[in-house]
Amino acid sequence: MQVLVVADADAVARRACFEVIEGLTGGAHRANGPASEDLVLGLATGSSPLGLYRELALAQDAGRIDFSAAHGFALDEYVGLPAGHPQSYREVLLREVCGPLRLAPERLHVPDGSHTDEESLIVAAAAYERAITQAGGVDVQILGIGVNGHLGFNEPGSSLASRTRVKRLTARTRSDNARFFDSLDDVPTHCVTQGLGTVLDARRLVLVATGSTKAEAVSAALEGPLTASCPGSVLQWHPDAVAVLDEAAAVGLRNRPYYDDSAAGL
Ligand code: GLP
Repeated sequence: MQVLVVADADAVARRACFEVIEGLTGGAHRANGPASEDLVLGLATGSSPLGLYRELALAQDAGRIDFSAAHGFALDEYVGLPAGHPQSYREVLLREVCGPLRLAPERLHVPDGSHTDEESLIVAAAAYERAITQAGGVDVQILGIGVNGHLGFNEPGSSLASRTRVKRLTARTRSDNARFFDSLDDVPTHCVTQGLGTVLDARRLVLVATGSTKAEAVSAALEGPLTASCPGSVLQWHPDAVAVLDEAAAVGLRNRPYYDDSAAGL
């Protein structure tokens, strides 16, 4: 696991962009260089990765990467929002990722939370797992982290081996996300989310976290025990995980001098 601490949110976006492109283009499985139609990017929602998406768009404009024929797989989706709801994660990713990155909308894959019965949601979750496999697996999974340590919508208590499935959202997550809705009552109670086992299958994980509200979750995820009580702790189990943090999010890390030495190549 690499822990990279940089000055502020802009620097996090730039460094995370570098780490994502390196993961997409530099892996041994791409020894002959990437073909754009082969790239599979795992997409997170929330505020944390927005600067990273802007940097990736700039990198594409500069000719460093080409997302026009890549596949994007979302981590999660709300259950029960009507198609086209502006806060559904499909709509958010169409706005924040497909537009700026020129990723073809038909290559954006999002778990289907539109079903109203549990059986159909289960079938759709299994289909989502198959779609990831058919695309060749996720090359780089972009991640944010919830203040309670959640990854995607894997709330504390989620199995470390879980696959895409329906989950109930915690009261904390619903109140954190109420800012995107007219009222707390409008925030869905359930979601479909990739499982922690699904996330761990990605070839590289790039976590971005900024601000003091994330400091406790970041410390628990990166330096606490590997535990379902902190889903973010699965980063410790992954062979190629990179956490890019600003100073405020990194404030609680005990091993900071070591991370800085490692980042400096010492
Ligand atoms: C959301 C998403 C997560 C995201 C997290 C943090 O609910 N499901 O994928 O990482 O919460 O969001 P933010 O980056 O806005 O703090």
